[in-house]
Amino acid sequence: VSQSVHGFSVPFRFPVTFTRGIWRCTNPTLLQTVRSLERHRQHRVLVVVDDQVARARPALLADIEAYCSACAGGLALVAPPLLVPGGEAAKNDLSHCFSILQRIHDVGLDRQSFVVVLGGGAVLDVASFAAAIAHRGIRTIRLPTTVLSQADSGIAVKNGLNLFGKKNFIGTFVPPFAVLNDLDFLDSLERRDTAAGIAEVIKVALLRDPALFDEVEAHAAAIAGGDSTKIAAVVQRSAELHLAHVCGSGDPFELGSARPLDFGHWAAHKLESMTRHRLRHGEAVAIGMTLDLTYAMLMGYLNEQVLRRVRAVIRAVGLPEWDDALLEPGPEGRLEVLSGLEEFREHLGGELHVTLVQAIGRSFETNQMDDAVVRQAIGMMAPSVRQRSAVATIGAAHTVQ
Ligand SMILES: NC(=O)c1ccc[n+]([C@@H]2O[C@H](COP(=O)([O-])OP(=O)(O)OC[C@H]3O[C@@H](n4cnc5c(N)ncnc54)[C@H](O)[C@@H]3O)[C@@H](O)[C@H]2O)c1
Ligand SMILES: [Zn+2]
Repeated sequence: VSQSVHGFSVPFRFPVTFTRGIWRCTNPTLLQTVRSLERHRQHRVLVVVDDQVARARPALLADIEAYCSACAGGLALVAPPLLVPGGEAAKNDLSHCFSILQRIHDVGLDRQSFVVVLGGGAVLDVASFAAAIAHRGIRTIRLPTTVLSQADSGIAVKNGLNLFGKKNFIGTFVPPFAVLNDLDFLDSLERRDTAAGIAEVIKVALLRDPALFDEVEAHAAAIAGGDSTKIAAVVQRSAELHLAHVCGSGDPFELGSARPLDFGHWAAHKLESMTRHRLRHGEAVAIGMTLDLTYAMLMGYLNEQVLRRVRAVIRAVGLPEWDDALLEPGPEGRLEVLSGLEEFREHLGGELHVTLVQAIGRSFETNQMDDAVVRQAIGMMAPSVRQRSAVATIGAAHTVQ
């Protein structure tokens, strides 16, 4: 046997810029970004747009075309902006990914061209995936337009589509060419979507930054009311914390099975599928965090006062702490949400890793979750006596590890 081992490492760098008015002809951010590698040529650009953003902002498509005409020396719009349905529908149906691939093919984009994608986390995921697989990877510039995607998913190095009823079953790890967060877009978000994004801000604050938690707590009413200055401040801090994790954790492509930032996510992903995405990702994360915080309290890891404090903030920013899907029985009479633990482990590979919070800003990983205690936590969360007794009658206890 003759064996030799070879390897190489490739450094990834991508700028994350916060700006306002990105499509104003006087704003150089996008032009400078596409020109950053080769200053003197014209760069071909396909723009993919979340149709709900276009609907909320009737001037958007004309602004994009006007910007590209004004910057024609540096960038060429290869086709009118391509609209993709906003929200989880974009990830649930492969045809949307296919239509982006078709357009990339039709206009003849190459690996030196750009796909610029503007929209919420779902549309960013679909277009980033399509760009990642076309020609084995076309440069992608992300323009996230939701609180969640500016604070969290847009700056991540992965993308994904849902398949076989499983969240993000297909996808790739690819760092974007650049991320340009235009805070003005957050003004047209529905309150519900603003709150959903704040769930991820609360999440990263609970894991990493007590001062950010205090800030969200102090301004919860203003944030729920759409105060753009307060929202921008917590979005920027959250983005910094997520970037520090992606770039500093030593495992940006999640080769290990630990996923420390996925606090509350095992239940969240399951609840999203169970409710056929009636719950937004961030809403499901709020419920998943409430569940894992209650679990940690019952296990003796977390003080009950901290649990109450976090729950009050979740409510105050307009997020749900409960959904009746938590009561749904699955096969063998076990609570269906509990199968989220096995699915989470399968997605991670290897061992189960669940992050539990011990105090605001402090967390640890556990490799096993006790079914009976999860059920007890759900029982405690249930808003009515009837629901509480329903939990007690569903499912036999066993431990998942
Ligand atoms: N790739 C990753 O690392 C990663 C990480 C976390 C979450 N995600 C994914 O992100 C998705 C959630 O993203 P999201 O919270 O941004 O929600 P979303 O993309 O579903 O957007 C929510 C709604 O707001 C609309 N919208 C977006 N921007 C708007 C604006 N500026 N004005 C008006 N309406 C607007 C969208 O069309 C949609 O209807 C989930 O699919 C989740 O799995 C991905
Ligand atoms: Zn998330």
